[in-house]
Amino acid sequence: MRIEIPRELERFGANLFYGVQKVFELDSGSGEEEDSHNPLIRRLGYDVLHEVEKELVVIVPIKGEQLKLLQGVLYGIPHPCRVIIVSNSDRGPVDRFSIEKEAVRNFVGYTNKRMMIVHQKDQIIANAFAQAGYTDILDQDGLIRTGKAEGMIVGTMLARLTGRRFLGFIDADNYLPASVLEYVRIYAAGFALRKSDMTMVRIAWHSKPKVIDSRLFFSKSGRTSAVTNGFLNDIISRYTGFETDVIRTGNAGEHAMSMELAESLAYASGYAVETFHFIDLLEKFGGVTQELNHETTRRAIEVFQIESRSPHLHAEKGDDHIDDMIRASLGVIYHSPVTPEGVKGDLLADLRERGILADGEELPPVRMYPPPRTIDLPAFVSQMRHHPYAAFFDCETFPKRSRARATGRRPVETRSTLKSETISP
Ligand code: GDD
Ligand code: MG
Repeated sequence: MRIEIPRELERFGANLFYGVQKVFELDSGSGEEEDSHNPLIRRLGYDVLHEVEKELVVIVPIKGEQLKLLQGVLYGIPHPCRVIIVSNSDRGPVDRFSIEKEAVRNFVGYTNKRMMIVHQKDQIIANAFAQAGYTDILDQDGLIRTGKAEGMIVGTMLARLTGRRFLGFIDADNYLPASVLEYVRIYAAGFALRKSDMTMVRIAWHSKPKVIDSRLFFSKSGRTSAVTNGFLNDIISRYTGFETDVIRTGNAGEHAMSMELAESLAYASGYAVETFHFIDLLEKFGGVTQELNHETTRRAIEVFQIESRSPHLHAEKGDDHIDDMIRASLGVIYHSPVTPEGVKGDLLADLRERGILADGEELPPVRMYPPPRTIDLPAFVSQMRHHPYAAFFDCETFPKRSRARATGRRPVETRSTLKSETISP
Protein backbone atom coordinates (compact mmCIF):
# COMPACT_ATOMS: atom_id res chain seq x y z
CA MET A 1 0.00 0.00 0.00
CA ARG A 2 1.22 3.50 -0.73
CA ILE A 3 -0.12 5.95 1.78
CA GLU A 4 0.50 9.56 2.67
CA ILE A 5 1.92 10.31 6.09
CA PRO A 6 -0.44 12.32 8.33
CA ARG A 7 -0.34 15.99 7.37
CA GLU A 8 -2.09 17.10 10.51
CA LEU A 9 -1.62 16.16 14.14
CA GLU A 10 -3.71 17.27 17.07
CA ARG A 11 -2.13 16.49 20.42
CA PHE A 12 -4.49 16.17 23.37
CA GLY A 13 -2.61 15.09 26.48
CA ALA A 14 -1.02 11.77 25.56
CA ASN A 15 -3.36 11.31 22.58
CA LEU A 16 -2.04 11.86 19.08
CA PHE A 17 -4.98 12.35 16.72
CA TYR A 18 -3.65 12.17 13.16
CA GLY A 19 -5.49 13.88 10.33
CA VAL A 20 -7.06 11.74 7.60
CA GLN A 21 -4.52 9.95 5.41
CA LYS A 22 -5.17 9.07 1.79
CA VAL A 23 -4.17 5.88 0.06
CA PHE A 24 -2.40 6.23 -3.30
CA GLU A 25 -1.96 2.57 -4.18
CA LEU A 26 -3.84 -0.30 -2.61
CA ASP A 27 -0.94 -2.58 -3.55
CA SER A 28 2.51 -1.05 -3.93
CA GLY A 29 4.46 -4.25 -4.52
CA SER A 30 6.69 -6.16 -2.15
CA GLY A 31 8.84 -4.63 0.56
CA GLU A 32 11.97 -5.33 -1.44
CA GLU A 33 11.17 -2.99 -4.29
CA GLU A 34 12.43 0.56 -4.42
CA ASP A 35 11.03 2.94 -1.81
CA SER A 36 9.11 6.12 -2.52
CA HIS A 37 11.27 9.18 -3.19
CA ASN A 38 8.54 11.37 -1.88
CA PRO A 39 9.08 11.98 1.86
CA LEU A 40 5.34 12.64 2.32
CA ILE A 41 4.41 9.16 1.12
CA ARG A 42 5.16 5.82 2.78
CA ARG A 43 5.29 2.58 0.85
CA LEU A 44 4.23 -0.49 2.79
CA GLY A 45 5.03 -3.69 0.94
CA TYR A 46 2.36 -6.40 0.84
CA ASP A 47 4.69 -8.61 2.85
CA VAL A 48 4.70 -5.98 5.62
CA LEU A 49 0.89 -5.93 5.68
CA HIS A 50 0.80 -9.71 5.57
CA GLU A 51 2.92 -9.91 8.73
CA VAL A 52 0.44 -7.67 10.57
CA GLU A 53 -2.52 -9.71 9.31
CA LYS A 54 -0.96 -12.76 10.95
CA GLU A 55 -1.42 -10.95 14.27
CA LEU A 56 -4.92 -9.64 13.58
CA VAL A 57 -8.28 -10.98 14.76
CA VAL A 58 -11.26 -9.68 12.79
CA ILE A 59 -14.48 -9.51 14.80
CA VAL A 60 -17.76 -9.44 12.89
CA PRO A 61 -20.85 -8.45 14.90
CA ILE A 62 -24.09 -9.58 13.26
CA LYS A 63 -27.77 -9.37 14.10
CA GLY A 64 -30.22 -10.62 11.53
CA GLU A 65 -28.36 -9.56 8.39
CA GLN A 66 -28.94 -11.28 5.06
CA LEU A 67 -26.79 -14.36 4.77
CA LYS A 68 -25.40 -13.24 1.41
CA LEU A 69 -23.99 -10.12 3.07
CA LEU A 70 -22.24 -12.07 5.81
CA GLN A 71 -20.82 -14.46 3.20
CA GLY A 72 -19.54 -11.51 1.16
CA VAL A 73 -17.77 -10.12 4.24
CA LEU A 74 -16.09 -13.47 4.85
CA TYR A 75 -14.86 -13.62 1.24
CA GLY A 76 -13.16 -10.27 1.78
CA ILE A 77 -11.20 -10.97 4.97
CA PRO A 78 -7.58 -11.94 4.21
CA HIS A 79 -6.64 -15.52 5.02
CA PRO A 80 -4.03 -14.91 7.75
CA CYS A 81 -6.59 -13.14 9.97
CA ARG A 82 -8.49 -15.14 12.54
CA VAL A 83 -12.21 -14.39 12.40
CA ILE A 84 -14.64 -14.28 15.30
CA ILE A 85 -18.30 -13.77 14.39
CA VAL A 86 -20.49 -12.72 17.30
CA SER A 87 -24.09 -13.24 16.32
CA ASN A 88 -27.19 -11.99 18.06
CA SER A 89 -29.48 -13.26 15.34
CA ASP A 90 -32.82 -14.88 16.17
CA ARG A 91 -32.96 -18.50 17.26
CA GLY A 92 -36.70 -18.73 16.45
CA PRO A 93 -39.19 -19.10 14.85
CA VAL A 94 -36.53 -19.40 12.13
CA ASP A 95 -33.17 -20.30 13.64
CA ARG A 96 -31.11 -17.76 11.73
CA PHE A 97 -28.06 -18.45 13.85
CA SER A 98 -28.01 -22.10 12.75
CA ILE A 99 -28.18 -20.97 9.14
CA GLU A 100 -25.25 -18.60 9.71
CA LYS A 101 -23.33 -21.38 11.42
CA GLU A 102 -23.88 -23.73 8.54
CA ALA A 103 -22.67 -21.07 6.08
CA VAL A 104 -19.53 -20.55 8.16
CA ARG A 105 -18.93 -24.29 8.34
CA ASN A 106 -19.14 -24.51 4.54
CA PHE A 107 -16.80 -21.57 4.18
CA VAL A 108 -14.23 -23.17 6.48
CA GLY A 109 -14.54 -26.34 4.39
CA TYR A 110 -13.60 -24.43 1.23
CA THR A 111 -10.95 -22.15 2.66
CA ASN A 112 -9.36 -23.96 5.60
CA LYS A 113 -9.62 -20.70 7.44
CA ARG A 114 -9.43 -20.36 11.22
CA MET A 115 -12.69 -18.84 12.31
CA MET A 116 -15.49 -19.29 14.77
CA ILE A 117 -19.04 -18.17 15.27
CA VAL A 118 -20.63 -17.77 18.68
CA HIS A 119 -24.04 -16.61 19.77
CA GLN A 120 -24.22 -13.55 22.00
CA LYS A 121 -26.68 -15.40 24.26
CA ASP A 122 -24.37 -18.37 24.74
CA GLN A 123 -24.76 -19.51 28.37
CA ILE A 124 -21.15 -20.61 28.80
CA ILE A 125 -19.82 -17.26 27.63
CA ALA A 126 -22.23 -15.50 30.00
CA ASN A 127 -20.98 -17.76 32.81
CA ALA A 128 -17.39 -16.87 31.98
CA PHE A 129 -18.17 -13.14 32.25
CA ALA A 130 -20.08 -13.76 35.51
CA GLN A 131 -17.24 -15.77 37.05
CA ALA A 132 -14.75 -13.14 35.96
CA GLY A 133 -16.67 -10.42 37.80
CA TYR A 134 -17.79 -8.51 34.70
CA THR A 135 -21.47 -8.65 35.59
CA ASP A 136 -22.75 -5.31 34.22
CA ILE A 137 -22.90 -6.94 30.80
CA LEU A 138 -25.46 -9.53 31.98
CA ASP A 139 -29.22 -9.09 31.68
CA GLN A 140 -31.88 -10.30 34.13
CA ASP A 141 -31.69 -13.81 32.63
CA GLY A 142 -27.95 -13.95 33.28
CA LEU A 143 -27.14 -13.72 29.54
CA ILE A 144 -25.12 -11.09 27.66
CA ARG A 145 -27.25 -8.01 26.98
CA THR A 146 -28.38 -7.22 23.46
CA GLY A 147 -26.43 -4.54 21.60
CA LYS A 148 -23.61 -4.06 19.12
CA ALA A 149 -21.14 -2.93 21.80
CA GLU A 150 -22.01 -5.91 23.96
CA GLY A 151 -21.23 -8.19 21.00
CA MET A 152 -17.96 -6.30 20.48
CA ILE A 153 -16.96 -6.86 24.12
CA VAL A 154 -17.62 -10.60 23.76
CA GLY A 155 -15.53 -10.57 20.57
CA THR A 156 -12.76 -8.61 22.28
CA MET A 157 -12.51 -11.09 25.15
CA LEU A 158 -12.46 -14.06 22.78
CA ALA A 159 -9.85 -12.30 20.63
CA ARG A 160 -7.76 -11.73 23.73
CA LEU A 161 -7.62 -15.49 24.30
CA THR A 162 -6.00 -16.06 20.91
CA GLY A 163 -2.83 -14.30 22.07
CA ARG A 164 -2.80 -12.11 18.93
CA ARG A 165 -1.75 -8.46 19.11
CA PHE A 166 -4.42 -6.63 17.12
CA LEU A 167 -8.17 -6.75 16.64
CA GLY A 168 -10.43 -5.04 14.12
CA PHE A 169 -14.21 -4.81 13.69
CA ILE A 170 -16.02 -5.24 10.39
CA ASP A 171 -19.82 -4.89 10.18
CA ALA A 172 -21.60 -7.89 8.66
CA ASP A 173 -23.93 -5.86 6.41
CA ASN A 174 -21.35 -4.77 3.81
CA TYR A 175 -22.34 -5.35 0.17
CA LEU A 176 -18.80 -5.14 -1.19
CA PRO A 177 -16.35 -7.93 -0.32
CA ALA A 178 -13.50 -5.97 -1.92
CA SER A 179 -14.07 -3.02 0.40
CA VAL A 180 -13.85 -5.40 3.37
CA LEU A 181 -10.46 -6.53 2.05
CA GLU A 182 -9.46 -2.89 1.71
CA TYR A 183 -10.52 -2.07 5.28
CA VAL A 184 -8.44 -4.92 6.70
CA ARG A 185 -5.43 -3.88 4.61
CA ILE A 186 -5.87 -0.34 5.94
CA TYR A 187 -5.92 -1.66 9.51
CA ALA A 188 -2.67 -3.47 8.76
CA ALA A 189 -1.18 -0.30 7.25
CA GLY A 190 -2.08 1.73 10.35
CA PHE A 191 -0.44 -0.82 12.63
CA ALA A 192 2.60 -0.98 10.38
CA LEU A 193 2.97 2.81 10.73
CA ARG A 194 2.53 2.86 14.52
CA LYS A 195 5.21 3.89 16.97
CA SER A 196 3.16 3.03 20.05
CA ASP A 197 1.64 -0.16 21.49
CA MET A 198 -1.52 1.82 22.14
CA THR A 199 -2.87 2.33 18.65
CA MET A 200 -6.26 2.74 17.01
CA VAL A 201 -6.98 2.74 13.27
CA ARG A 202 -10.30 4.13 12.05
CA ILE A 203 -11.66 3.96 8.54
CA ALA A 204 -12.86 7.22 7.05
CA TRP A 205 -14.85 5.79 4.20
CA HIS A 206 -14.47 7.54 0.89
CA SER A 207 -18.19 7.90 0.14
CA LYS A 208 -21.57 6.32 0.61
CA PRO A 209 -23.49 5.72 -2.61
CA LYS A 210 -27.18 6.70 -2.66
CA VAL A 211 -29.76 6.95 -5.42
CA ILE A 212 -30.92 10.55 -5.82
CA ASP A 213 -33.16 11.56 -8.77
CA SER A 214 -32.58 8.11 -10.31
CA ARG A 215 -28.83 8.68 -10.37
CA LEU A 216 -26.06 7.39 -8.18
CA PHE A 217 -24.77 10.04 -5.81
CA PHE A 218 -21.64 9.46 -3.72
CA SER A 219 -22.15 11.44 -0.54
CA LYS A 220 -19.09 12.32 1.50
CA SER A 221 -20.36 12.38 5.05
CA GLY A 222 -22.60 10.03 6.99
CA ARG A 223 -25.56 11.62 8.74
CA THR A 224 -24.55 10.51 12.23
CA SER A 225 -20.83 11.12 11.77
CA ALA A 226 -21.34 14.71 10.59
CA VAL A 227 -23.05 15.55 13.89
CA THR A 228 -20.71 13.57 16.16
CA ASN A 229 -17.50 14.82 14.52
CA GLY A 230 -18.65 18.42 14.93
CA PHE A 231 -19.04 18.09 18.70
CA LEU A 232 -15.85 16.06 19.20
CA ASN A 233 -13.90 18.72 17.30
CA ASP A 234 -15.62 21.43 19.36
CA ILE A 235 -14.36 19.84 22.57
CA ILE A 236 -10.77 19.68 21.32
CA SER A 237 -10.96 23.25 19.96
CA ARG A 238 -12.21 24.66 23.25
CA TYR A 239 -9.29 23.16 25.18
CA THR A 240 -6.57 24.02 22.71
CA GLY A 241 -7.96 27.42 21.74
CA PHE A 242 -7.53 26.60 18.05
CA GLU A 243 -10.44 25.51 15.91
CA THR A 244 -9.89 22.07 14.42
CA ASP A 245 -11.69 19.59 12.21
CA VAL A 246 -9.16 16.81 12.75
CA ILE A 247 -11.76 14.25 13.88
CA ARG A 248 -13.45 12.72 10.83
CA THR A 249 -14.33 9.27 12.18
CA GLY A 250 -16.33 9.81 15.37
CA ASN A 251 -18.70 6.94 14.57
CA ALA A 252 -16.42 4.68 12.56
CA GLY A 253 -17.93 1.20 12.96
CA GLU A 254 -14.93 -0.11 11.05
CA HIS A 255 -12.02 0.41 13.37
CA ALA A 256 -9.17 -1.60 14.84
CA MET A 257 -7.07 -1.46 17.97
CA SER A 258 -3.94 -2.94 19.44
CA MET A 259 -5.01 -5.49 22.03
CA GLU A 260 -3.47 -3.31 24.70
CA LEU A 261 -5.65 -0.34 23.84
CA ALA A 262 -8.78 -2.51 23.38
CA GLU A 263 -8.28 -3.82 26.92
CA SER A 264 -7.72 -0.35 28.37
CA LEU A 265 -10.74 1.49 27.03
CA ALA A 266 -14.22 1.43 28.54
CA TYR A 267 -17.18 0.57 26.30
CA ALA A 268 -20.53 2.35 26.00
CA SER A 269 -23.61 0.31 25.25
CA GLY A 270 -25.07 -0.26 21.76
CA TYR A 271 -24.26 2.26 19.03
CA ALA A 272 -22.63 4.77 21.40
CA VAL A 273 -19.54 2.59 21.50
CA GLU A 274 -17.42 4.24 18.80
CA THR A 275 -18.06 7.79 19.95
CA PHE A 276 -17.34 6.81 23.52
CA HIS A 277 -13.98 5.37 22.56
CA PHE A 278 -12.96 8.90 21.55
CA ILE A 279 -14.44 10.36 24.72
CA ASP A 280 -12.68 7.75 26.84
CA LEU A 281 -9.38 8.59 25.14
CA LEU A 282 -9.94 12.22 26.13
CA GLU A 283 -10.94 11.24 29.67
CA LYS A 284 -8.19 8.68 30.32
CA PHE A 285 -5.27 10.10 28.40
CA GLY A 286 -6.23 13.75 27.87
CA GLY A 287 -4.89 14.97 31.21
CA VAL A 288 -8.08 16.97 31.89
CA THR A 289 -10.04 14.82 34.32
CA GLN A 290 -7.38 12.28 35.22
CA GLU A 291 -3.74 13.05 35.86
CA LEU A 292 -1.33 11.57 33.38
CA ASN A 293 1.53 9.57 34.68
CA HIS A 294 4.96 9.77 33.15
CA GLU A 295 4.68 6.30 31.57
CA THR A 296 1.45 7.15 29.70
CA THR A 297 2.82 10.43 28.41
CA ARG A 298 5.98 8.73 27.22
CA ARG A 299 4.14 5.99 25.31
CA ALA A 300 1.41 8.12 23.69
CA ILE A 301 -1.78 6.83 22.10
CA GLU A 302 -1.88 7.02 18.33
CA VAL A 303 -5.18 7.37 16.48
CA PHE A 304 -4.91 6.90 12.70
CA GLN A 305 -7.79 7.88 10.42
CA ILE A 306 -7.29 6.45 6.97
CA GLU A 307 -9.57 7.07 4.00
CA SER A 308 -10.68 4.07 1.98
CA ARG A 309 -10.83 4.26 -1.81
CA SER A 310 -13.91 2.06 -2.22
CA PRO A 311 -17.36 3.41 -1.44
CA HIS A 312 -19.08 2.08 1.67
CA LEU A 313 -22.24 0.26 0.67
CA HIS A 314 -24.18 -1.32 3.51
CA ALA A 315 -27.78 -2.19 4.39
CA GLU A 316 -29.91 0.96 4.91
CA LYS A 317 -31.78 0.87 8.22
CA GLY A 318 -33.92 4.00 8.11
CA ASP A 319 -34.21 7.46 9.68
CA ASP A 320 -35.31 6.30 13.14
CA HIS A 321 -32.18 4.17 13.38
CA ILE A 322 -30.03 7.21 12.48
CA ASP A 323 -31.82 9.30 15.13
CA ASP A 324 -31.20 6.59 17.73
CA MET A 325 -27.51 6.54 16.84
CA ILE A 326 -27.22 10.34 17.05
CA ARG A 327 -28.96 10.30 20.44
CA ALA A 328 -26.68 7.56 21.78
CA SER A 329 -23.52 9.21 20.41
CA LEU A 330 -24.37 12.65 21.75
CA GLY A 331 -25.49 11.06 25.03
CA VAL A 332 -21.96 9.90 25.82
CA ILE A 333 -20.50 13.28 24.83
CA TYR A 334 -23.04 15.13 26.98
CA HIS A 335 -22.41 13.07 30.10
CA SER A 336 -18.63 13.21 29.95
CA PRO A 337 -16.75 15.33 32.50
CA VAL A 338 -14.38 16.46 29.70
CA THR A 339 -17.18 18.14 27.74
CA PRO A 340 -17.27 21.90 28.44
CA GLU A 341 -20.64 23.33 29.53
CA GLY A 342 -20.87 25.45 26.39
CA VAL A 343 -20.62 22.36 24.17
CA LYS A 344 -23.26 20.61 26.28
CA GLY A 345 -25.66 23.51 25.72
CA ASP A 346 -25.07 23.48 21.95
CA LEU A 347 -25.55 19.73 21.90
CA LEU A 348 -28.95 19.84 23.63
CA ALA A 349 -30.07 22.64 21.32
CA ASP A 350 -29.01 20.59 18.31
CA LEU A 351 -30.93 17.50 19.50
CA ARG A 352 -34.06 19.60 20.11
CA GLU A 353 -33.80 21.23 16.69
CA ARG A 354 -33.65 17.80 15.06
CA GLY A 355 -36.69 16.71 17.05
CA ILE A 356 -34.68 13.92 18.66
CA LEU A 357 -35.12 15.43 22.13
CA ALA A 358 -38.43 17.00 23.19
CA ASP A 359 -38.51 20.37 25.00
CA GLY A 360 -37.80 19.82 28.69
CA GLU A 361 -36.77 16.20 28.09
CA GLU A 362 -33.55 15.05 29.78
CA LEU A 363 -30.84 13.23 27.85
CA PRO A 364 -30.35 10.04 29.87
CA PRO A 365 -26.87 8.63 30.47
CA VAL A 366 -25.81 5.67 28.34
CA ARG A 367 -24.94 2.37 30.04
CA MET A 368 -21.16 1.94 30.43
CA TYR A 369 -18.94 -1.09 30.77
CA PRO A 370 -15.51 -1.03 32.41
CA PRO A 371 -12.38 -1.79 30.37
CA PRO A 372 -11.94 -5.49 29.52
CA ARG A 373 -8.65 -5.30 31.45
CA THR A 374 -10.69 -5.37 34.68
CA ILE A 375 -11.95 -8.87 33.84
CA ASP A 376 -10.43 -11.60 36.00
CA LEU A 377 -8.67 -13.41 33.16
CA PRO A 378 -7.81 -16.70 34.90
CA ALA A 379 -11.48 -17.02 36.04
CA PHE A 380 -12.68 -16.27 32.49
CA VAL A 381 -10.27 -18.79 30.97
CA SER A 382 -11.20 -21.47 33.48
CA GLN A 383 -14.86 -21.23 32.38
CA MET A 384 -13.98 -21.12 28.68
CA ARG A 385 -11.98 -24.32 29.03
CA HIS A 386 -15.32 -26.16 29.29
CA HIS A 387 -16.55 -24.66 26.05
CA PRO A 388 -16.77 -26.90 22.98
CA TYR A 389 -14.66 -24.41 21.05
CA ALA A 390 -11.95 -23.98 23.66
CA ALA A 391 -9.55 -25.48 21.12
CA PHE A 392 -9.84 -22.34 19.02
CA PHE A 393 -8.05 -20.34 21.67
CA ASP A 394 -5.51 -22.91 22.66
CA CYS A 395 -6.79 -22.23 26.18
CA GLU A 396 -4.39 -24.77 27.59
CA THR A 397 -1.47 -22.86 26.18
CA PHE A 398 -2.85 -19.39 26.76
CA PRO A 399 -0.89 -18.67 29.96
CA LYS A 400 2.25 -19.99 28.25
CA ARG A 401 1.59 -17.72 25.24
CA SER A 402 1.41 -14.70 27.51
CA ARG A 403 4.74 -15.61 29.04
CA ALA A 404 6.24 -16.12 25.60
CA ARG A 405 5.13 -12.63 24.63
CA ALA A 406 6.64 -11.12 27.77
CA THR A 407 9.97 -12.74 26.95
CA GLY A 408 9.74 -11.73 23.30
CA ARG A 409 9.40 -15.31 22.00
CA ARG A 410 6.71 -15.88 19.40
CA PRO A 411 4.13 -18.60 20.10
CA VAL A 412 3.85 -21.30 17.45
CA GLU A 413 0.61 -21.22 15.44
CA THR A 414 -1.11 -24.54 15.05
CA ARG A 415 -3.83 -25.35 12.54
CA SER A 416 -4.66 -28.72 14.04
CA THR A 417 -7.92 -27.50 15.58
CA LEU A 418 -9.31 -26.25 12.29
CA LYS A 419 -12.33 -28.48 12.05
CA SER A 420 -13.68 -27.58 15.47
CA GLU A 421 -14.06 -23.90 14.82
CA THR A 422 -17.77 -23.65 14.06
CA ILE A 423 -19.53 -24.85 17.11
CA SER A 424 -22.95 -24.41 18.58
CA PRO A 425 -23.51 -22.85 21.97
N1 GDD B 1 -23.55 -9.17 17.83
C1 GDD B 1 -24.39 -8.17 17.59
N2 GDD B 1 -25.30 -7.86 18.56
N3 GDD B 1 -24.32 -7.47 16.43
C2 GDD B 1 -25.19 -6.45 16.25
C3 GDD B 1 -26.17 -6.09 17.20
C4 GDD B 1 -26.23 -6.86 18.42
O1 GDD B 1 -27.07 -6.68 19.31
N4 GDD B 1 -26.87 -5.04 16.70
C5 GDD B 1 -26.34 -4.76 15.48
N5 GDD B 1 -25.35 -5.62 15.20
C6 GDD B 1 -24.50 -5.69 13.99
C7 GDD B 1 -25.24 -5.52 12.67
O2 GDD B 1 -25.78 -6.75 12.21
C8 GDD B 1 -24.13 -5.01 11.77
O3 GDD B 1 -23.33 -6.05 11.27
C9 GDD B 1 -23.29 -4.15 12.72
O4 GDD B 1 -23.59 -4.60 14.04
C10 GDD B 1 -23.60 -2.65 12.59
O5 GDD B 1 -24.98 -2.47 12.84
P1 GDD B 1 -25.90 -1.60 11.84
O6 GDD B 1 -27.28 -1.65 12.39
O7 GDD B 1 -25.67 -2.01 10.44
O8 GDD B 1 -25.34 -0.16 12.11
P2 GDD B 1 -25.20 1.04 11.07
O9 GDD B 1 -24.73 0.56 9.76
O10 GDD B 1 -26.40 1.86 11.08
O11 GDD B 1 -24.05 1.86 11.76
C11 GDD B 1 -22.71 1.42 11.65
O12 GDD B 1 -21.92 2.46 11.26
C12 GDD B 1 -21.93 3.55 12.17
C13 GDD B 1 -21.08 4.66 11.58
O13 GDD B 1 -21.56 5.09 10.36
C14 GDD B 1 -22.33 0.86 13.03
O14 GDD B 1 -21.07 0.23 12.92
C15 GDD B 1 -22.29 1.95 14.05
O15 GDD B 1 -21.80 1.42 15.28
C16 GDD B 1 -21.43 3.09 13.53
O16 GDD B 1 -21.44 4.13 14.46
MG1 MG C 1 -24.80 -1.01 8.70
